[in-house]
Parts: sequence; structure tokens; C-alpha cells
Amino acid sequence: MSASSGKKWLGRFSLIVASWLLLASNIVAAEPVLDVVIGGQTRQFGRDELLRRPDVISVTVANDIAYGKSMSYRAVPVSALLAGLNPPADRVIESVALDGFAAQLPLDILTNTDPAKPVAWLAIEPAQMPWPPLPGKAVSAGPFYIVWTGASVAMIRSEQWPYQLAKLESQPSPVARWPALDVDPGLSATDPTRAGLALFVTQCLACHTLNGAGSSSFGPDLNQPMNPTEYLTLNGLRALIRDPKSVRSWPGQQMPGFAADQMSDSEIDLIIGYLKHMAMRRGNSETRSGALPK
Ligand code: HEC
Repeated sequence: MSASSGKKWLGRFSLIVASWLLLASNIVAAEPVLDVVIGGQTRQFGRDELLRRPDVISVTVANDIAYGKSMSYRAVPVSALLAGLNPPADRVIESVALDGFAAQLPLDILTNTDPAKPVAWLAIEPAQMPWPPLPGKAVSAGPFYIVWTGASVAMIRSEQWPYQLAKLESQPSPVARWPALDVDPGLSATDPTRAGLALFVTQCLACHTLNGAGSSSFGPDLNQPMNPTEYLTLNGLRALIRDPKSVRSWPGQQMPGFAADQMSDSEIDLIIGYLKHMAMRRGNSETRSGALPK
């Protein structure tokens, strides 16, 4: 081989390698993957591999929360994806979405298979048959979306239907993970502020931090620098939680409202009671990791 033909060959070869790499990266980018991380063990599920599983079925959801109507999906039971990984029972599964939304899903509910109780499914968006865009958005709920079926599906809260899912990861329960969320330990076990904390974790923590605690900064911190109970009237805050657009409205607004069938007036007041209580337990940057000042 002469020097010049060698060079030519090398040139052609690197062109082939370059185009192959481009093709490979396109393939990688084209297939969405769901990461499942339980106690340090990671499983990765590609979309197409999931759609080929023998346990994929068609699931119809009568009252789909993200789409606000009846929807059908190709889906696998979430319990099957976690099978054999055995996270400790005191854990929650944090679902992390592409937009930073991060719900804390109780493990027992997520892994239930008894149809008398809610059953969680991982809905998978097929490449050939994309789902419609979400109401008011340019994107669909895909590539992965947790939907629920079963007799008592109404007990599943609106923020427990995470869409555009990227990862499921086992975590300590939120108050153990972020002590800065906790109420005054002197409160009795039945104090309504504790019920407010539980509702806050389910309905608000998926988008907001409080005292810097939480995984998502999709919305602002709700205690730092100020707590909304310090600058909004009680009726203004009630109205904002029920329907943010009834208080103020602009095109980029992101916070969803909570209809009465998702949260009652008294549940909204429990959350406001918790927020008010937390205004007296404001952490500073040193307390973000846990301990609060006396
Ligand atoms: C899906 C995400 C999401 C959820 C769930 C959510 N919020 Fe929000 N919230 C936001 C975003 C984002 C903003 C900033 C304004 C906007 O874009 O709507 C916001 C703004 C607010 C504000 C106004 C802050 C200010 O000063 O302007 C309050 C108060 C608030 N949220 C309280 C709550 C409470 C209480 C809950 C739970 C019942 C909750 N939010 C649930 C995303 C969310």
C-alpha cells in the first residue's frame, strides 16, 4: 500500500467510523430509557424492550389525571419492574420526571397487585403511535407515565400520576430524609398539623421545596425567604391552591390547580395550617441539612 492510498484509506475509514458513531448516538438518543435504582442496584429499561415484554397489556384508565379524560395505554405492572429488588419497607419510591417533578410514592401502594386496591402501571409511549400532547402543553405524557387502575383508584392523589418519567429510585421516607420538613416534635400525634404535613408531601413537595428540603425546584421554596402565609391573605392562598389562575395568570404559569374531587376545602386548610406552623420553623442555610434552630 502506498503512503497516499494508505492516507485515503484512513480518511475513508474515519469517515465510516464517524458516521457510524453519529448513527449510534442517534439510536441511543431515540430510545428513551427508564432507570430503576433500588438500594444502590440499577436496572435500565428501554422503551422497546419494555413494549416487547410478555406482561405488557392494554390498560384503560377511565379518569386519566394528566389528560383529563379516558385513555388507553400499553403498560406493565410497576410491581413487576421492582420484583426481586426488595427495597426496605420504610422506603418510598421517588419518581423523577424529565421536567424535574419528583413525587414521593409510598412503596406499599406502588407495588400492590390486589385489584380491590389501586394498582400502578407503567404506561409506555410507542414510537410508532405517540400519545397526544397534554392539555395546554406541547408535549405528551411520554415516554413513561405511571397510571392507576383498581376499585379505589380515587384515593390516589393528582400528584401521584407522574408523567414524562425518567427514573424511579428508593429513598428514605421524606421526613427522615429531610428533617427540616418536620413539625414541632412537641405536637401530639393527632395534631392536624401532622395531617397537613402528609398532604403537603403528597401534593406540593413534588414541585416545591420547603426550608430547602425536597428534590424539586420546579416551583419556589415555600418558607424561604418568606412563607406565603406571611404575604398572602388566607382567602388569597386558599384560592391560589384551588386554582392559581383565579389569583393571577400569565402564559408561562405552571402550577396546576387542585379540583374539589382531588382536595377538599378542609384538606387545603390542613396544608395552610402546616405552612403557617412552618413559618415559625424557618431554617437557614446551615439548617438545610436537618437541625432547626430552637
Ligand atoms: C406541578 C408542580 C406544582 C405543584 C404540584 C404545586 N405547585 Fe405551587 N407552584 C408551582 C410553580 C411552578 C409555581 C410558580 C408560579 C407558576 O409558574 O405557576 C408555584 C407557585 C406557588 C405559590 C405562589 C408563590 C408566590 O409567591 O408566587 C404558592 C403559594 C404555591 N405554589 C403553593 C403550592 C401548594 C400549597 C401546593 C400543594 C397543595 C403546590 N403549590 C403544588 C408548581 C407547583
